[in-house]
Amino acid sequence: MRSSSKSLQDGKVKGETTPVSVLFAVSEIYPWVKTGGLADVACYLPQALREIGMDVRVVVPAYRSLMAQIHDYRVCTETRLPEAGIRYRLLEIMLPDSQVPVYLVDIPELYDRPGGPYTDPGGTEWPDNALRYAQFCRVIVAMTLNQAGLHWHPDLLHCNDWHTGLAPALLKAGGSNQPVVFTIHNLAYQGNFPYEIFRLLRLPAGFWSSESMEFYGSMSFIKGGLVYADRLITVSPSYALEITTPEYGNSMDGLLVHRQETLSGILNGVDYRHWDPRHDPFIWHHYWTDSLDIRRLNKLELQEELGLDRNPDAVLLSHISRLTGQKGIDLILYGLTDLLPDRNVQMVVLGTGESVYETGLLTAASARLGQVAVCMYFNEGLAHRIQASADILLMPSRFEPCGLTQLYALRYGNIPVVCTTGGLADTIIDVNEQTLSAGTASGFRFPDPTTSSLVTAFRRALDMCRSPGPGWHNLLRSAMQKDFSWNNSARRYAVLYDELVRVSPSRPAVQSHRTIPSDPGPVPGW
Ligand code: ADP
Ligand code: GLC
Repeated sequence: MRSSSKSLQDGKVKGETTPVSVLFAVSEIYPWVKTGGLADVACYLPQALREIGMDVRVVVPAYRSLMAQIHDYRVCTETRLPEAGIRYRLLEIMLPDSQVPVYLVDIPELYDRPGGPYTDPGGTEWPDNALRYAQFCRVIVAMTLNQAGLHWHPDLLHCNDWHTGLAPALLKAGGSNQPVVFTIHNLAYQGNFPYEIFRLLRLPAGFWSSESMEFYGSMSFIKGGLVYADRLITVSPSYALEITTPEYGNSMDGLLVHRQETLSGILNGVDYRHWDPRHDPFIWHHYWTDSLDIRRLNKLELQEELGLDRNPDAVLLSHISRLTGQKGIDLILYGLTDLLPDRNVQMVVLGTGESVYETGLLTAASARLGQVAVCMYFNEGLAHRIQASADILLMPSRFEPCGLTQLYALRYGNIPVVCTTGGLADTIIDVNEQTLSAGTASGFRFPDPTTSSLVTAFRRALDMCRSPGPGWHNLLRSAMQKDFSWNNSARRYAVLYDELVRVSPSRPAVQSHRTIPSDPGPVPGW
């Protein structure tokens, strides 16, 4: 890796960085539209970057559910995409309690629908997702090139995940020198679509090549980012290494090895203004390391809220996640008898996802009324309350690019039991004699994503939790005091932006930008 990559991984931040203007393109953003950690990153990282002087502005699609929550937006521009002819409006609003402007791309025929950002109300992917995000990317490119009528354009474009992957491709293939950063939050989601859709999107013919966006007979949106961005970032250093191997590379490992010089990891962070048990508005009783007894009151409240047996002595296990194979909920289900050895261990699961896991959880809950609570919906406040009440967070992820849930759990004293992978390996320090006496321990790690490995680590945690003496509370204190604030990560991104903007040749004037030749053919908007 280049020395600059090393300095990012080592955590050293160079002295001064110059203020850079950045367009941060992303498909979801807390508090308006959230399906997972990406929304948290989109909300909190731009704020942290603003605080260190970067002019960061976010762009997201104007989904119906988002529009229903906002009223005081400003219409900045109403225009057409030059090559696709689609009309769009750019609306501007400030992210709540921040200095971060957010641009909403308003194309009603694509985004004004019920349901989630990616799926209909029944959870089925929208059939025209390729078109929805292709047009989003075209608008991102127009904004980057100052062709959207905004009177503002960025020095640098920062794209996130597959939904924005076409933007670097369109930008660079169009001859722009504008620097582009692409953050991989999850390589498992690639935005792969068949050739027929590639044709319908009228993308440049040259994109259908293995050096470009073609990927084993499909068109891959994420490959647009991986091939064309100047720098690739993943959300933890370990995941940056893992994705260059066949085991974790999702068939992109060859390409990522090829681009290894440009690839590095910057850990996500936590916004402690919103995630802190001392002042969290979602929880019943505030507490800190010197008032851990108060924490037990939250457990009683949660037991009441979720219909669990009222039992202050019960050890409460928790799992908060999208219920997918990634998160290893099946390992929990298989291990249930060992994880719940007696009525003095309870479990709460908050999550939605694949029906096979939902069914398994419902069966488990109905067989253990009062001992297992399953909440199959998305509820931000409940996620906070579980963190403030549970004793142990189970996170047996098969892979985890970063993971925010375990970072939040640390701050709330909900001790993580995690598989040693990706960001979990980078953020959780295993309990052993040495780490306990050094006061650095923060959780329990296990090496492989198997039920037996999970159960072994869990038993270590349970034994310690049930042992008399101050050991468990000392562990809570050391976990709660870990600092994963966004400021550290933002400073690393700032160094990266600074480097890229400095080396980038002076940007071509807007007029000199040539429009990328699209394939003639089917009209957009199929
Ligand atoms: P991922 O992004 O892979 O889903 P992370 O751990 O990075 O995993 O982030 C998950 C985020 O989503 C956290 O903020 C977590 O609290 C939240 N979350 C997940 N499921 C739910 C749910 N059902 N209700 C509320 N919050 C949830
Ligand atoms: C992804 C990853 C998760 C990460 C989040 C935010 O959804 O699965 O590990 O924390 O993005 O970067």
